[in-house]
Amino acid sequence: MEHLITFRNGEQICTLGQGTWNMGKIASLRVEEIKALHTGIDLGMTLIDTAEMYDNEEMIGEAVRDCRDKVFLVSKVLPQNAAYQAMKHACERSLRKLRTDRIDLYLLHWKGSYPFEETVRAMLELREEGKILRWGVSNMDVTDMERFLAIPDGESCAVNQILYNLKERGVEYDLLPWCAENNVPVMAYSPVGEGTLAESKALMEIADRHDASPAQIALAWVMHRPGIIAIPKAGKVAHVRENYRSLFIELTGEDYRILDVIFPAPKHKLPLAGW
Ligand SMILES: NC(=O)c1ccc[n+]([C@@H]2O[C@H](COP(=O)([O-])OP(=O)(O)OC[C@H]3O[C@@H](n4cnc5c(N)ncnc54)[C@H](OP(=O)(O)O)[C@@H]3O)[C@@H](O)[C@H]2O)c1
Repeated sequence: MEHLITFRNGEQICTLGQGTWNMGKIASLRVEEIKALHTGIDLGMTLIDTAEMYDNEEMIGEAVRDCRDKVFLVSKVLPQNAAYQAMKHACERSLRKLRTDRIDLYLLHWKGSYPFEETVRAMLELREEGKILRWGVSNMDVTDMERFLAIPDGESCAVNQILYNLKERGVEYDLLPWCAENNVPVMAYSPVGEGTLAESKALMEIADRHDASPAQIALAWVMHRPGIIAIPKAGKVAHVRENYRSLFIELTGEDYRILDVIFPAPKHKLPLAGW
């Protein structure tokens, strides 16, 4: 099975990364969380997703200090900081907190009130300066993506990070096909439904057939489409190891059929869920 997705410029990365929302909040969990991130990195889950909003960039910087070159670091700028000059400052702040000289992928977290042109101009300059290596967006629907791609050099947008899991399939109607057609990889956030799919009784029967857990089935399902990177957050080492094994689960036609009955695909356009 292929475990890699390919960016527009030919670079490749594992289809399973690591989210960090809510990490670094409770001091007593910090050691285990850093251990969990290291476990994932050692297994090849080298994409680490953070954001200025998560208020944990310092902890992530500490976690990756000794293995920075192995890691594909993603951070995000808040929409209220996405004006040209403010964004440059926001990026500098993130770099300082992350204790690094470059962010591998810098995203606009969600749509705010500044013109996309201004955000793209700042992204391109930051890339030119080597402070970010790629830029992308998050929580953007088809019409927003079309606006981004219409901006000069807007087609260098590397990803769209969106909510996607078995319980949130709305994007299958038009956004996922649009991204596939336009060669924009998708980062699926909350792929375990913020933990709820790990408890799903509905997934238990399929999980048992694969000698797997419901969380592993939920992740294998998200990653079955080409061009999708799943970024589960797991603050426990055991969860990271479990999630890694989802890469090796081959769901069957019958599994997909059952999952479609329990978690139906959208039949019409739905508003984009998430932020
Ligand atoms: N761009 C955006 O607007 C946006 C929005 C939301 C999230 N995100 C990103 O996407 C990442 C993932 O989304 P998320 O954190 O919302 O939800 P998620 O990854 O679907 O779920 C995280 C929860 O699932 C639990 N979990 C993970 N693996 C498990 C397993 N194998 N068995 C049982 N429980 C398991 C975690 O527990 P433990 O921590 O205890 O292991 C945690 O409570 C975020 O951390 C963030 O980086 C981006």
